[in-house]
Amino acid sequence: MKEITQELLNSFRAPAFPGSFFLSFEGIEGAGKSTQIIKLKNYLEEKNFRVLVLREPGGTPFGEKMRQAILETKTEITPLAEAHLFASSRAQLLSEVVLKELAIPNTVIICDRYIDSSLVYQGHSRGLGVAEVLNIHNVFPLNLVPHLTFYLRINVETSEKRQKMRNAPKDYFESKGVDFYKKLVVGYDLMAELFPNRILKLDAEVTLEQMTMQIFEATNKLIGQSRSANQEEEL
Ligand SMILES: Nc1ncnc2c1ncn2[C@@H]1O[C@H](COP(=O)(O)OP(=O)(O)O)[C@@H](O)[C@H]1O
Ligand SMILES: [Mg+2]
Repeated sequence: MKEITQELLNSFRAPAFPGSFFLSFEGIEGAGKSTQIIKLKNYLEEKNFRVLVLREPGGTPFGEKMRQAILETKTEITPLAEAHLFASSRAQLLSEVVLKELAIPNTVIICDRYIDSSLVYQGHSRGLGVAEVLNIHNVFPLNLVPHLTFYLRINVETSEKRQKMRNAPKDYFESKGVDFYKKLVVGYDLMAELFPNRILKLDAEVTLEQMTMQIFEATNKLIGQSRSANQEEEL
């Protein structure tokens, strides 16, 4: 299996568009991603940001078709094929939407799952290797990562309970067994260790309100830091 070198990790950077921010939410099903994304979107809009929420795979006409194809498939897709499918949807999303929108100041893009989902699902849990998936992304613009990633951490039991509450049928990604879910949690924990500056690991077993407070606080900190860095540049 390939090695994850510091050099490889260093080639992943957040896009530099002053005044705009790229955020992502990660975590297993039921962690609260969709719920918190809506709250954060409303909060940022009140602060006069232009907010776009994107989902992966998808977000472009090509990406949505690919999403359907993956979700509806009845046959097994190999992890290598799956990793490349997600990366191609992501490449299209970056060029068609993310880069263009972030160039407009005061924009926040929030992705419901991003590169960490590929690293965890195909790289770690399906066994392709995290280094392999990083290598697939080691080319512009796929090497652009969010300024901040919220990893909402829950255990497998909570995930099952919340999925039942939500009452939606299991799709391609959700229909795997408990062992797969356990592996996902380990994988996400590993990503938080690999990218400690970008990934904020939050205990998502707490109440919705407590979760929201922590997410708002971290977002405000990010915005504040970026504003003071830009002011220093101007001086
Ligand atoms: N912190 C929380 N405490 C209790 N229930 C929650 C919490 N976060 C989410 N839920 C509930 O769990 C279910 C799944 O949440 P959702 O936001 O759809 O998760 P995800 O998008 O990560 O799969 C929903 O019914 C939601 O209301
Ligand atoms: Mg969701």
